[in-house]
Amino acid sequence: MARVVFDRARKQYSENVVIHDLSLTIDDSEFMVLVGPSGCGKSTALRMIAGLEEISDGFISIGDRVVNDLHPKQRDIAMVFQNYALYPHMSVFDNMAFALKLRKIPKSEIERRVREAARALEIERLLDRKPKALSGGQRQRVAIGRAIVREPKVFLMDEPLSNLDAKLRVSMRAEIKKLHRKLQTTFIYVTHDQIEAMTLGDRIAILNGGKLQQCGTPHQVYAEPANLFVATFIGSPQMNLLDAELKSSSTVTMITGPDFCFTLPQRADYSAGDVKVGLRPEHLVCIADPNPQHALTAQVEVVEPLGAESYLYLSGKMGNLVARVAAEQTPQVGEAITLTIDAGKLHLFDPRTETRLA
Ligand SMILES: Nc1ncnc2c1ncn2[C@@H]1O[C@H](COP(=O)(O)OP(=O)(O)OP(=O)(O)O)[C@@H](O)[C@H]1O
Ligand SMILES: [Mg+2]
Repeated sequence: MARVVFDRARKQYSENVVIHDLSLTIDDSEFMVLVGPSGCGKSTALRMIAGLEEISDGFISIGDRVVNDLHPKQRDIAMVFQNYALYPHMSVFDNMAFALKLRKIPKSEIERRVREAARALEIERLLDRKPKALSGGQRQRVAIGRAIVREPKVFLMDEPLSNLDAKLRVSMRAEIKKLHRKLQTTFIYVTHDQIEAMTLGDRIAILNGGKLQQCGTPHQVYAEPANLFVATFIGSPQMNLLDAELKSSSTVTMITGPDFCFTLPQRADYSAGDVKVGLRPEHLVCIADPNPQHALTAQVEVVEPLGAESYLYLSGKMGNLVARVAAEQTPQVGEAITLTIDAGKLHLFDPRTETRLA
């Protein structure tokens, strides 16, 4: 168990900065997910903790000890990679025991740790098998088991589920969450998949272009995205964005765009000008009343039925929108519909700085 701190940590390859002065604290026993698009620096950040990449500037500490100059072996971490290459000629038991044997840990202790990890991962009955006789999900468990037996202070996982099929990923996700609860150890988990990030993390750190965009609980980053990048990266289907103009009187704020006008309570920090309005697809509600407050009219272009709900792809004067409605409220393709929104659910962003206004 240990806290991990990035203190203005930077990584650059000659002139190319891939991690910009990152400051982030991962609490003791926390499950932190680093998420962002391909190439944003997630793996690099993880490898900096592991000691597999040198740190160009700043500090990284594990358990209140600066580790910048510490060899990976001395950092008391264990890493699970995407390609979890097991030794094909060794049994599952020997694969899991290998690192402990190298460290000359007594045989009885190795036996105890491997059996305990195998029990936690429910692979006890596979201990005598060779990797080729295992399914993808079982191999992934062995790879995680190999990390567990080392009893590290921190687990680092770099896209450990991305080689698995969609269904297995979902069940392994739940297994990893259970494992975290059982081990009560710090987990730092990298993924490009925002759903994996939302479902696994106590907190999520969102990176883009090597810069930290926001760090918070899944609920915080979803409900109050700090900027347009986070707003559109988190959530599926993604948040709708509309161009509009903000005007304030002494009592209300009006958000006006082509074919819509929303009124909000006045706030001192709003100033008049262009804004981007963000609307989550589930906050658009189809209604019968053609002239309600906070309405948008649009035509249904495509319907995607998903069973319990449907995604509606809509077009109107304000541009294209996606709405998420209950299956029984699904309109027909070609239908003209009226949508309304609870003004309290609007997100406003400054189109120039791309940061959140409200
Ligand atoms: N040895 C290197 N020399 C130069 N640039 C590098 C090196 N290793 C990585 N990079 C660059 O650093 C950036 C971050 O890479 P990184 O592997 O951390 O991305 P990532 O977020 O893990 O992406 P992915 O989701 O594709 O795994 C990329 O632009 C990459 O090209
Ligand atoms: Mg990566």
